[in-house]
Amino acid sequence: MAEKKFIEDREQLEKLAPMLKAPIKRQVFVCTGKSCSAVGGKEVMAEFARVLEEKGIRQGKDAKGRNPMGECVLTECGSIGFCSIGTAVMVYPDGIMYGQVTTADVQEIIEKHIEKGEPVKRLALMDISSSRDSDR
Ligand code: FES
Repeated sequence: MAEKKFIEDREQLEKLAPMLKAPIKRQVFVCTGKSCSAVGGKEVMAEFARVLEEKGIRQGKDAKGRNPMGECVLTECGSIGFCSIGTAVMVYPDGIMYGQVTTADVQEIIEKHIEKGEPVKRLALMDISSSRDSDR
C-alpha cells in the first residue's frame, strides 16, 4: 500500500473536499442494514433524500441534485444494534437515536428536528448527548 501524504493546507483540503466549506449543522444516518432494510430502511433513506433535496438543504454536489452549501449531510449506514426495532435513524451532533422510523415519519423528523432543532420525542429512543455531558 502506498503511503498517503498528510495534507495540512486548508485550501487544498477544501479543494479536494468542498463540503468543508458548507455550513453543516447536522448529519443524519439512516441504517440500511439487513434487518432495517427488511422493514423499509432503504425506503426511509430514499424519503430523507427526496425531502432534504426538495427543501434544498441536503449538502452535496449540484450534479446530484444537492446543495453544495446545504446544512444537512445524509449518510447511509450499517447496523447500530436497533435491528429488531428499525428502521434506525441517528441525528448528530444532537446524539438522538430514533427507532421504528417509517417513511411516514421522515417529513416530521426533518421539519421538527433538522430544521428547528426539536427532536421528535415519540420516536427518540436514546439521547447520547446527555451521556457525553457526564463524561466532562
Ligand atoms: S440492521 Fe439497522 S440497526 Fe441493525
